[in-house]
Parts: sequence; structure tokens; C-alpha cells
Amino acid sequence: MENEISPKNRRQFLKYMVFGTAGTVALGWIFPQRSLGHERSNSATPCTSDGNSEACQNYLRGVKATDSSGNHIQESVLLTTAVSGRPVLVKGLSKPTYLVINDGPKLAEYAINPTCPHHGCTVEWKTDRNKFVCPCHGAQFDAQGKVLKGPTHRNLPLITVVVQDDDIFLIDRKPAVDPRT
Ligand code: FES
Repeated sequence: MENEISPKNRRQFLKYMVFGTAGTVALGWIFPQRSLGHERSNSATPCTSDGNSEACQNYLRGVKATDSSGNHIQESVLLTTAVSGRPVLVKGLSKPTYLVINDGPKLAEYAINPTCPHHGCTVEWKTDRNKFVCPCHGAQFDAQGKVLKGPTHRNLPLITVVVQDDDIFLIDRKPAVDPRT
């Protein structure tokens, strides 16, 4: 028959199959890191253990912090007027965010989400009282968001801050370590 495969062609076909498969396996052995690295860069796993690692900065850069007019805030400019222990209100995420200013003054690697852990009202920073105060039931928190007075016993939630090329990025994820505990 015309369509019948000759033994010679069958042998050649089998030879291609064997060498083709072996070649594919060999390439996988030679370049395993590249494919693993790709998976890692798309994985959230490293960012939950170390939110400020280089891998996390590439994975989830967050949104740039802006002032009330929508202008991006540069860290170097912010620190020329920032006062240690006085949180700075910024925009960028769906809720306002307070950057934390440590001694130096230095920008902390975390910021405060002003959602009261009691019933979800938005707390406000009171410079004259040097604390956050909740307008609903009077809870109070210090400049790092640590609870000072109830009715709640919980601290204010935190988000992660990353600075890249002088831009301040807000990442809506709690830092790997809560510096208040
Ligand atoms: S909602 Fe803040 S104290 Fe109740």
C-alpha cells in the first residue's frame, strides 16, 4: 500500500522521538534557575515574610504617596520639614494614610491606616494633643498607632512603606514585623 510506513522511516521517526525528548530534558537541567526565578518573581510568598526585600519591591510596588493636591511626595523633600514623632497625612490608597516620622527625622518603613479597630471610624491626628483620637467613641493612639485608651484594646493597622528613587510607595499590606510589639 502507498500509505504504509516502511521499517526504515519508522526507525527514523523513533530516533527523532528519543533524541528530541532527551534534548528537552537536558535543557531543563541546564536552565532550571531561569524558570524558577520567573515563578518566584510572580509569587507573593517572599513579600509576606520580608515586605521590603528587593523581590517584593519588584513584585508589588504599591502606589506613590501624594500630597492633598495630588503631587508625588519625595522623601528628601518631606524630611526637610518633617518633625520626629509627628505623623504626616498623605493620599494614594483608598483611605488616607499617615506616614510615621521617626527620630532623625527619618521615614519609618510602615505607615498608619487610620481605621479605628473598634467600629471602623477614621481616627484623626491631633497635633496639640500629640495623639490620634477617634471621633466616634474616643479611643486614643500614639504616633505609632499604639492604643493608649479604649474602648478598643487593639492598635491601629499598619501598611508597608517602600522608598525607591526618592519616591514613597504605599503598599496596602501589613509589614512583616509589627515594630510596636
Ligand atoms: S469606632 Fe473608634 S472608638 Fe469606637
